[in-house]
Amino acid sequence: MTSQPAGPDSRTRASSNPDGRPVAVVTGGTRGIGLAVARDLADTHHLVIGGRSRDSVAEVVASLPSAQGLVADLADCSDDGSLATALDALVPRLPRVDVLVHSAGVLRNGTVADSPAADWADSMTVNVVAVAVVTRALLPALRAAHGLVITVNSGSGLTATPASGAYCASKFALRALSDSLRQEEREHGVRVTSLHPGRVDTDMQHELVEFEGAEYDAGSYLEVASVVRAARLAIDAGPDASVDMISVRPRGWRPDTT
Ligand SMILES: NC(=O)c1ccc[n+]([C@@H]2O[C@H](COP(=O)([O-])OP(=O)(O)OC[C@H]3O[C@@H](n4cnc5c(N)ncnc54)[C@H](OP(=O)(O)O)[C@@H]3O)[C@@H](O)[C@H]2O)c1
Repeated sequence: MTSQPAGPDSRTRASSNPDGRPVAVVTGGTRGIGLAVARDLADTHHLVIGGRSRDSVAEVVASLPSAQGLVADLADCSDDGSLATALDALVPRLPRVDVLVHSAGVLRNGTVADSPAADWADSMTVNVVAVAVVTRALLPALRAAHGLVITVNSGSGLTATPASGAYCASKFALRALSDSLRQEEREHGVRVTSLHPGRVDTDMQHELVEFEGAEYDAGSYLEVASVVRAARLAIDAGPDASVDMISVRPRGWRPDTT
């Protein structure tokens, strides 16, 4: 995929939450888990859909009752880069954020022996640094709403496996980021959920199975809807409760497998 020009999305359907709806920001909102979470929240929330492709973001925004776009390449976290420009345009128009779901992520497969530095850099930038940068920018709005941050992690953030060191390292780092953030933000009323799905039937799973040279068997993986339900557990928790960590695996999963 190529990155698209950054900045405010000209095809934004709403520049804030005019309906007075609670606001949910979803990175990786164009496909897979992020798109499913966004659709699940669409009846009740104003959505901010994050993605790299202006057209893909616009298509999702147009399909939702109240939504706007955040077009940025999360691989570009520099101070004057794509993400910074997009956040500078978004943040002043977003006084509150009730839910922030970090679903965007990349999977770079390969052993430590074979993986180029670029795979490590990409994994750490998109899966960790961008999460910190987006969260930092939205923290005042999250604090204002006593909001919830969900970091979509992975089983790979709990147990490292061969031939995916860069991915596992990034997800372990993401877990640490989430744990630090939870402790820091407790006094500000912001809750943080680290959500760890096992293998899910999405494009990313197709990439992984192709790398493994195995046959794709959708029935062996979690349905996206099951991950959405897990996210809902945190979103629907009462204000007295913090759902700190959720691990959800395919039913037949065994600890000696990925
Ligand atoms: N699928 C699984 O088996 C599985 C298991 C455990 C955890 N997870 C985690 O779940 C999350 C979502 O995965 P998924 O399966 O839904 O993946 P997916 O179907 O491959 O979708 C990935 C999403 O991330 C976005 N994205 C990727 N690189 C980006 C970048 N540089 N800048 C902006 N957006 C970028 C993509 O946007 P574009 O449309 O622009 O590419 C897309 O919306 C990831 O964090 C992943 O690590 C997945």
